[in-house]
Amino acid sequence: MNFLEERIKRDGIVKPGNVLKVDSFLNHQMDVHLMDQMGEEFKRRFADKPINKVLTIEASGIAIACSVARCLNVPMVFAKKSKSINIEGEMYVAEVESFTHKNTNQVIVSKKFLTPEDHVLIIDDFLANGCALQGLISIVEAAGATVEGLGIAIEKGFQIGGRVIRNLGYRLESLAIVDGMDAETGEIIFREQECVE
Ligand code: G4P
Repeated sequence: MNFLEERIKRDGIVKPGNVLKVDSFLNHQMDVHLMDQMGEEFKRRFADKPINKVLTIEASGIAIACSVARCLNVPMVFAKKSKSINIEGEMYVAEVESFTHKNTNQVIVSKKFLTPEDHVLIIDDFLANGCALQGLISIVEAAGATVEGLGIAIEKGFQIGGRVIRNLGYRLESLAIVDGMDAETGEIIFREQECVE
């Protein structure tokens, strides 16, 4: 098991409805050393890519993306969730549907911060159905920039997002892939992956 899988096993809580609660270390209270470990691991996994910008979506992707950007020594941009409508022109806009929350957000990035010269690594904390990632990909492509890869902390391997993104031909690296969980026993099954420290 890698460092993130071990932490999920220790401190993650399986809730009914296939929800994994990780709010004691990842998306409410945050273990900043764990963020830095993830930053180093993404740097290692994407070492062959000419990344000059990290992109994420608010809120809980921001902390991980900051660590990745610090390790790569590049700027980090986060897409904002917005309800405003009068923003086209200066902004790239994507509609992101949330199956979990049953709502749709517009996500926006200023045209100032993404250009055709950019080689972007997209980072997020969770991958479930993949709507957030697809919104971010569409924003990068609208800017004429290049998606060099996508880095996820926890992928829910039994939901469709990972398969959809990989089938589109993108390089997707998830530090932990959860293939199953049991709310009664608390058991979490991880997909076998290359072993990291
Ligand atoms: P998608 O983005 O992959 O399409 O997923 P979905 O719509 O299903 O997820 C909506 C939100 O729920 C996302 O956060 C996602 O990170 C989160 N989520 C999905 N499954 C789980 C889970 O098992 N455990 C936890 N803790 N979160 C999960 P969000 O509302 O967009 O973001 P944020 O503001 O918290 O970053």
